[in-house]
Amino acid sequence: MAVLPYKEEQLGKKEQVAKMFDNISRRYDLLNHVLSFGVDIIWRKKAIKMLKPEQPNLILDIATGTGDFAIEALALNPEKVIGVDISEGMLAVGRKKLAKMGLTDKIELQLGDSEKLLFSDNKFDAIIVSFGVRNFENLEKGLEDMYRVLKPGGTTVIVEFSKPTVFPFRQLYNFYFRYILPLIGKIISKDNSAYSYLPESVQAFPCGEKFLEIFNKAGFKNTICRPLTFGISSIYVGQK
Ligand SMILES: C[S@@+](CC[C@H](N)C(=O)[O-])C[C@H]1O[C@@H](n2cnc3c(N)ncnc32)[C@H](O)[C@@H]1O
Repeated sequence: MAVLPYKEEQLGKKEQVAKMFDNISRRYDLLNHVLSFGVDIIWRKKAIKMLKPEQPNLILDIATGTGDFAIEALALNPEKVIGVDISEGMLAVGRKKLAKMGLTDKIELQLGDSEKLLFSDNKFDAIIVSFGVRNFENLEKGLEDMYRVLKPGGTTVIVEFSKPTVFPFRQLYNFYFRYILPLIGKIISKDNSAYSYLPESVQAFPCGEKFLEIFNKAGFKNTICRPLTFGISSIYVGQK
């Protein structure tokens, strides 16, 4: 069964996820950095480094949110990064940020669904997704459409939460993630559900080897998983 942010509502996962991110968009960046003690920034940097040998020219950032991963991707010196997301609220915050940073000619943010990408086949040199795939309504469909728009020989890099296994880190982390984080998230974001949905969706997400199986099934080759910070997050890399 799908994990939903607003369990009492009739809307499907995609609509609920878009609504949730619209609700928390103005506090999203702040909460990200506070709740992860800034480590999320390091994870995105590490993931982008994996693309260094490829020197991609045109990059698609799926589930771009407020654009942080797209901004990080500029370290690769591409001609253009296109970011797509289903939350207009997140994109609006991202567009303001890009304008402030003078990056609107380099990064373009568009409303778009990972499961129905409005791009032609074999278009992008690289595709990146940070903390997005866990929120897809249909993970298989999302990965298949990413594969479709990636150029043959192109690389996809995905960062997503996983589950740490090492004692006692796992126990300490679980306590923080299940009890402390939802409370701080609720107070700052003013959304009662968003930061309870986070640990629940991570728990339900197929991480590690299970994710690689689905990744391979979508068509990706040479797939690898690299755990980060005791396995709190993982980087997945695959090629077309
Ligand atoms: C946790 S945020 C990650 C944002 C950004 N990538 C980051 O690293 O901060 C997840 C984002 O995924 C988006 N999302 C969820 N399902 C999506 C889909 N099917 N297509 C596009 N974006 C989606 C949400 O709207 C949200 O902005």
